[in-house]
Amino acid sequence: MASGRHILLIIAGGIAAYKALELIRRLRERGMHVTPVLTRAAQQFVTPLSVSALAGRKVFTDLFDLTDEAEMGHIELSRAADLVVVVPATADLMAKMAQGQADDLASTLLMATDKRVLIAPAMNVRMWQHPALQRNLALLNGDGILTVGPDEGTMACGEFGPGRMAEPAAIVAAVEGALAEGPLSGRHVLVTSGPTHEPIDPVRYIANRSSGAQGTALAEALLDLGARVTFVTGPAQVPPPPRAEVVRVETAREMLAAVEAALPADAAVFAAAVADWHVTGAAEQKIKKTAGGLPTLTFAENPDILATVSQRTEGRPPLVVGFAAETENVVEHATAKRLRKGCDWIVANDVSPATGIMGGAENAVTLIRAAGVEEWPRLPKAEVARRLAARIAAALNGETDRDGAAD
Ligand code: C5P
Repeated sequence: MASGRHILLIIAGGIAAYKALELIRRLRERGMHVTPVLTRAAQQFVTPLSVSALAGRKVFTDLFDLTDEAEMGHIELSRAADLVVVVPATADLMAKMAQGQADDLASTLLMATDKRVLIAPAMNVRMWQHPALQRNLALLNGDGILTVGPDEGTMACGEFGPGRMAEPAAIVAAVEGALAEGPLSGRHVLVTSGPTHEPIDPVRYIANRSSGAQGTALAEALLDLGARVTFVTGPAQVPPPPRAEVVRVETAREMLAAVEAALPADAAVFAAAVADWHVTGAAEQKIKKTAGGLPTLTFAENPDILATVSQRTEGRPPLVVGFAAETENVVEHATAKRLRKGCDWIVANDVSPATGIMGGAENAVTLIRAAGVEEWPRLPKAEVARRLAARIAAALNGETDRDGAAD
């Protein structure tokens, strides 16, 4: 429910700022509280008086306002909200956000917030299409910033094309979507994904065929249920989910360090295909072909990240899920693996080439828990992810037994 939720509304300096007045009215009609912030440029387009009258609240404009700071510091202002909305998001403000600049109240609030941010870009079509703007947009998407619009149409400057700000009704819908509560709201879930790369020398490495598809789908499904997701990924083919907190690593040892740094978590799902070994003493310089013969590689065992986390005595996530990619005797091997590693659930699958699962769009899994084994039908990877995310939510919320005994 959006009613009763707090929106911090940042109005930036563009001609579309006038639509912010209509937006405030609509948000309030739906029972939301709106705290407005105007940039200096925004005040050229709408007055603090009209914004304040519609919001029914004081308008904030200045980073160095002593009274404001005494009543509620700007950090607090950015945290008291449930959602931060930027209307219109100008090219200038988007550039500041992408670079992490904080030189006025609006940009400082955007840096200081720990809440989701929704932006409604609006600008001239050529500015929108400029590579610099698109670069900044990609950075913002990567940071998990949500966007609504822009629409295509005739603009105030007389040109036609994409760049016109989304209509207030569409922005309200996006706000309600961003505020939607899910069964995993307030939960932190850690997901590992992708392969690892283990260097031989600065230009060569040992890798595997994992695409990262199942881990990414799972992170998306967990995000859809409202979880905060830390996504620790090796160099995968599939791009990471934009709404997750993404930590990119290369080697298994880096992955373990990133996983430990991301704890505590309510649940951890280890979908990465981690290399079992790394090359000892990887060469600092490219290994050269020599007349003297072939190079010899020696290996050392990588840390088992799943087992390390499962067997922690302190700070073990209440639910730890591993994957088991097997090519024969799937259930038998995966059942033994669950006990050996000490995790709660194992999602087992048959990755023998005939199944087409590794790198494919579908997966046929068996869920193995303390109480028994459950075979799922062959499904698209996104559907496997949705079912698994729903199971995780039910277990964390105490609706089902974590061990699988009661459901
Ligand atoms: O032992 P195996 O590689 O078959 O185990 C698979 C499970 O263990 C997966 O969940 C994988 O992410 C995890 N794993 C790990 N660290 C390793 C090896 C595997 O987290 N070094």
